[in-house]
Amino acid sequence: MKQNIIIAVAILVGIGFSEASHTHAATITGSKHDLSASTGGEICIACHTPHNANTTITDAPLWNHTMTVATYELYASPTFNGTISQPTGVSKLCLSCHDGTIAPDAFTGHTGVTSIAAAGNLGTNLKKSHPISFTYDTALATADGELTDPGTLPAGWINNDKFECSSCHDVHNKTGIPKMLHATNTGSALCLTCHKK
Ligand code: HEC
Ligand code: HEC
Ligand code: HEC
Ligand code: HEC
Repeated sequence: MKQNIIIAVAILVGIGFSEASHTHAATITGSKHDLSASTGGEICIACHTPHNANTTITDAPLWNHTMTVATYELYASPTFNGTISQPTGVSKLCLSCHDGTIAPDAFTGHTGVTSIAAAGNLGTNLKKSHPISFTYDTALATADGELTDPGTLPAGWINNDKFECSSCHDVHNKTGIPKMLHATNTGSALCLTCHKK
C-alpha cells in the first residue's frame, strides 16, 4: 500500500515536471479564449454568466454568448457510420463564435464589435471538417470496427454520448497543448487515441 502511494507520488511528480516543460501555462488566462481585452476585463463573461443564462441550448453551462442561427452544410462520406444532423450541444456553442456569423464579444447586454480572425473562422461548410455532433457509443465503435470504445476515453471528451468539437479540444486550455487540444497530436497521437490505425 505504502509502496503504491510512493509510486503514485513519483508519477504525479513526473507529470508535474513534464507539464512544466510546456511553454504554455495550462489555463484560459492569456489563451486565445481570454477575450477580456474586448469584454471590459472579464474572461468568463463572453461565454458564461452566473444569472439569467440562455437555457435553450442542450449542454450549455450557464451560457451567455449570443447564439448562431446558421444552417450548415454537413459532413458526408460513404464510409461514415454515424448519423449526422445540424450541430447541437457543445459544438453549437463553439460555432456561435467559430462559424464567423457572430462576433466573439457579442453576449447578453454587449453588442459585439470584433470579427473572429480568419484562422478561427471555420465558416458554415462543415463538410471541410472532421464530423461533429453525432452519437459515438459502443455500437458505433463496433459498426466501424476500428474505433476505441468511447467508454474508455477520458472524462469530458464525450458529452451525452455525442462526439463534439470538445472531443478533441479543451475550451479552457487546461492542457496547455497548442491549439487547445486534449492530447498532443505529435505523431498523430490524438487521432490514434480513437482511431485504431
Ligand atoms: C470561449 C468560451 C468560454 C470561456 C471564455 C469560458 N468557458 Fe467555461 N465552458 C465553455 C464551454 C463551451 C463549456 C462546455 C463544454 C465543455 O466543458 O467542454 C464550458 C463549461 C464550463 C464549466 C462546466 C464544465 C467544466 O468544465 O467543469 C464550467 C464550470 C466553466 N465552463 C467555467 C468557466 C469559467 C469559470 C470561466 C472563466 C474563467 C470559463 N468557463 C470561461 C466555454 C467557455
Ligand atoms: C466567445 C467566442 C468563442 C467561443 C464560444 C469559442 N471560441 Fe474558440 N476562439 C475564439 C477566438 C476569438 C479565438 C482566436 C481566433 C484567432 O485569433 O485565430 C479562438 C481560438 C480557438 C482555437 C485556436 C487556439 C490557438 O491557440 O490557436 C481553438 C482550437 C478554438 N478556439 C476552439 C474552440 C472550441 C472547440 C470551442 C467550443 C468548445 C470554442 N473554441 C468556443 C472565440 C471563441
Ligand atoms: C478530430 C479532432 C478535432 C475536432 C473534432 C475539431 N478539431 Fe479543431 N483542430 C484540431 C487539430 C488537430 C487542430 C490543429 C491543426 C489544424 O489547425 O488543423 C485544430 C485547430 C482548430 C482551430 C485553430 C485553427 C488555426 O489555424 O489556428 C480552431 C479555431 C478549431 N480547431 C476549432 C474547432 C471547432 C470550432 C470544432 C468543432 C466545430 C473543432 N475544432 C473540431 C482537431 C479537431
Ligand atoms: C475522440 C475520438 C476521436 C478523435 C480524437 C479523432 N476522431 Fe476521427 N472520428 C471519430 C469517430 C467516432 C468518427 C466516426 C467514424 C465512423 O462513423 O465511421 C470519426 C471519423 C473520422 C473520419 C471520417 C471517416 C469516414 O468514414 O468518413 C476521418 C477521416 C477521421 N475521423 C480522421 C481523424 C483524424 C485525422 C483525427 C486526428 C486529427 C481524428 N479523426 C481524431 C473519433 C475520433
